[in-house]
Amino acid sequence: MIQSIKGKPVEAIVFDAYGTIFDVHAAVMHHASDLGTLAQPVSDLWRAKQLEYTWIRTLSGRYRSFWQLTEEALDYALHVLAPAHRGLRAAILEAYRDLDAYTDAKGALEALRAAGFKTAILSNGDAAMLDRAVSASGLSGSFDALLSVEEIQTYKTAPSAYRLVEQNMGVKPESTAFVSSNRWDIAGASVAGFHCLWLNRLGRPDEYADMAPAAIISSLNEVLGA
Ligand code: LAC
Repeated sequence: MIQSIKGKPVEAIVFDAYGTIFDVHAAVMHHASDLGTLAQPVSDLWRAKQLEYTWIRTLSGRYRSFWQLTEEALDYALHVLAPAHRGLRAAILEAYRDLDAYTDAKGALEALRAAGFKTAILSNGDAAMLDRAVSASGLSGSFDALLSVEEIQTYKTAPSAYRLVEQNMGVKPESTAFVSSNRWDIAGASVAGFHCLWLNRLGRPDEYADMAPAAIISSLNEVLGA
């Protein structure tokens, strides 16, 4: 059943995973009592380096798995900001494997599927990471497909990453709505021709004006009505 979002016919709604469905800061926050005021800076630097590594490795043609980049980025963040807490590494990484989903995710996905949309994840995360995170967060059965760039060893925002949707689901970009909290991801997806909804949970200023979303929302519950 084709529905429409912002007047555009949409068949599938595709979601970024880390930062959009899953709260990337939850892994460190489970150890906030140990890290104290260092917790948020460590988590922020960890995320920033994890993403930097994906871009550098894609531009340089030197792919490493997202899990390996996640480990390397955490090592960097702990070494720079919390060297005395490097003993938390294994526990923080285990918490990242079972990241908490945002509280609006399950209900929003159920409503979208009830409305007849196909739903999927398109993520830099390795296939095994996505399988585990979806299962651990109770979202099994909420997606028609879990698409990982691991298949092409090329990270977003490379256009080939977004082409995985049509290649695997047979849904054309103009019939695909893409939801991400990562504004850089929205930029790439807009260039790929998707109908983009930027999930601006934190009210951040906009960027990439020439690669703009169709709409800005603040909760996944707003996707259906977008
Ligand atoms: C994802 C994050 C890295 O692709 O945006 O799930």
